[in-house]
Amino acid sequence: MKIEPAAQLSGHVAVPGDKSISHRSVLLGALGEGETRVRGFLRAGDTQATVDAMRTLGARVDDVAEDQLVVHGVGLRGLHGGTVDCGNAGTLLRLITGVAAGQTGRYELTGDDSLSSRPMERVAEPLRRMGATVETTKGHAPVVVEGSDSLRAIDYELPVASAQVKSAILLAGLNASGATTVVEPKPTRDHTELMLEAAGVRVRRRPTSVTVEPAGALRVGEVDVPGDFSSAAPLLAAAALVPGSNLTIHDVGLNPRRTGLLDVLERMGAHLAVFNRRRVAGEQVGDVQIQYTELGAVEVTPDEVPLLVDELPLVALLASHARGDSIVRGAEELRLKETDRIDAVTDGLRALGARIRSRPDGWIVTGVPARLKGGRIDARGDHRIAMLGAVAGLASRQGVDIQDAETVAISFPGFFELLESVVRR
Ligand code: S3P
Repeated sequence: MKIEPAAQLSGHVAVPGDKSISHRSVLLGALGEGETRVRGFLRAGDTQATVDAMRTLGARVDDVAEDQLVVHGVGLRGLHGGTVDCGNAGTLLRLITGVAAGQTGRYELTGDDSLSSRPMERVAEPLRRMGATVETTKGHAPVVVEGSDSLRAIDYELPVASAQVKSAILLAGLNASGATTVVEPKPTRDHTELMLEAAGVRVRRRPTSVTVEPAGALRVGEVDVPGDFSSAAPLLAAAALVPGSNLTIHDVGLNPRRTGLLDVLERMGAHLAVFNRRRVAGEQVGDVQIQYTELGAVEVTPDEVPLLVDELPLVALLASHARGDSIVRGAEELRLKETDRIDAVTDGLRALGARIRSRPDGWIVTGVPARLKGGRIDARGDHRIAMLGAVAGLASRQGVDIQDAETVAISFPGFFELLESVVRR
């Protein structure tokens, strides 16, 4: 896929539903009572794996429209065992391991090559403490879970900031003997907590910890999924980089634990405005407008990494166009994503003409307020790297060829078409 340079991005768009919330709506809907209607559901590779998983384990899921589902709950302990292929979806694999811990039956959880190289002991270890039998394959998938109907509640301090691990423990905690508390080294996205609260579970949320009480039943009812901020991010970055741009993204999720990129862009001097802020089932939603201005260098600190973890590749690209030296620190978790995103970004952007050096935990980028030359980037099977290549292409002098571009369908099918609809050449 070749992305040619853009003269400008302008207009009004909406992006597909939030991936994290879409996964959770199906998982919690399946564990709930009665019907859960999901509107704005993300139809993408990762979230389809979650629908297929719940069907395999005994929950009925009706596709009622392109972006609507009805999930028929089987109750908190109602799943039966089986083999689930999680595909590329880290969120599904981590969360379903927590769900399976409190069910009866045997659960064999597999994934593609990328997912099978990602760490699973971080989830297995706390679930074993709760009383589940969890076997990993040398720390990775395939994972086999033998659930327990007598899980013990735990107080657990996460060694790494991970919303996926936190969520796995909280979901197991729904079927445990008492109150389960997870302490986080840094605040991470809290969609699980918010959805559990909306479903009637007693949840205590604090800045760096969360407690759930065992639940008699979940009543999820209806979920209105906002647009995915992480899917809006490449569009925002492109508009921030291409002179003359003026773009508005409507109905996008603005959960403060997801919008670290807005703070970083603001520090870089970007011209941003947020309108129509509102709350939908505990989640903040609004419209974001961005207009092009020249950017300055920025420092991203370890504490803010979880608030923009999936947007950090875009920060490296923004920094390549921002006058001065930028640094991203504390982002070593990027080495454990769909690919090693620190190396993928360094190699990819350097090949396009950026001055970027990797560190064990991030990058140092020397930015120049001018277009990069362009060239070729290998997405390495990682949807976020493919989207990075597309944004880099729009902002380049000669365009960017993306190898493995179709991988965007993991989180954002229709990405290239939506992008083209706001590009002027
Ligand atoms: C996610 C959490 C993050 C994020 C991932 C989705 C989630 O991962 O990178 O894309 O839905 O909980 P970690 O929690 O492992 O950092």
